[in-house]
Amino acid sequence: MAPRIPAPARTARARAQAAFAADVRCGLLREGPKELPSKYLYDAMGSALFEAISLLPEYGLTRADERLLRRHAGEIAALAASPARARIGRVVELGSGTGKKARWLLEELCRRHSTSYFPIDVSRAALAACRAELGDIPALRITGCLGEYLDGLREAAAGRGSGERMLVLFLGSTIGNFDRAGGTRFLGDVRRIFEPGDGLLLGTDLEKPEAQLLRGYDDPLGITAAFNRNLLARINRELGANFDLRNYEHVARYNQAERRIEMYLRAEREQTVRIPKAGFSVTLRAGETIWTESSHKYAPEEPRRMAEQCGFRQAAQWIDAEWSFAETLLLAS
Ligand code: TRP
Repeated sequence: MAPRIPAPARTARARAQAAFAADVRCGLLREGPKELPSKYLYDAMGSALFEAISLLPEYGLTRADERLLRRHAGEIAALAASPARARIGRVVELGSGTGKKARWLLEELCRRHSTSYFPIDVSRAALAACRAELGDIPALRITGCLGEYLDGLREAAAGRGSGERMLVLFLGSTIGNFDRAGGTRFLGDVRRIFEPGDGLLLGTDLEKPEAQLLRGYDDPLGITAAFNRNLLARINRELGANFDLRNYEHVARYNQAERRIEMYLRAEREQTVRIPKAGFSVTLRAGETIWTESSHKYAPEEPRRMAEQCGFRQAAQWIDAEWSFAETLLLAS
């Protein structure tokens, strides 16, 4: 599939690198605790490592997501088309990865009519994987969008025919990587691109015992640690930096008050890191941390409450019995 890139590829790549350099600079030179934006975890290596995480027995989240999508695909398709048996001509997935989770729903829709699938992802490799993964579904058109969620969503929404409904998939627990207010704001941003009747299928990981969460985010094989550390490896590769990877420990801890897992990289010894392509050096003290991601956990009624503030109504919710995880279908009022 040819990903849609607005400018010639070289320019787009140079622009992406400049944005990466600016974000790294901003996060490591800021006053207060250092941080790096979690979206940069997902380059080709990071996306592959995340695929491996989703196979870990300790990380049941992706399998719960898949079970719900497989089991309830028919119901989801019917409810998203209700009440008028509307035609869902477009399915957009925010952060598709390989697109594997969308299969059952896409098959269900394609049995009724031809459907366009727009995977949006920041990883070029992930978009290529989508075509390989879903290319066999008859009557499915795949148009990959390389880039950020809302840009891709606007693009996918722009070309649709009148009366054609859109169903957006925001699966896994990506909404949980925003803070709570930011998550609600994001739902509002999505709603403003929607027409009444358009649907959002939202995955959320639910609150569960702390020990279970800590196992899920700090596995004994060290895949999650590698996934986290790859962010520094990426800065080395793309910005010419000299992070000594072995000096950084993966740390996961549960913040009770915020109901979220927080992930850090902790410098074991002091290191002065040069990052030439971002034009700066920075010293990390022994024990100093870089915050790389938080994963918020929700009460079952929270997705509905957040969405209702933004002009959605809940059509249905499904919860996995094995790993406490919810799929919530929200329709734009
Ligand atoms: N969105 C995933 C989550 O919050 C991402 C994730 C899983 C992750 N394990 C991780 C991110 C470890 C950083 C480090 O569950």
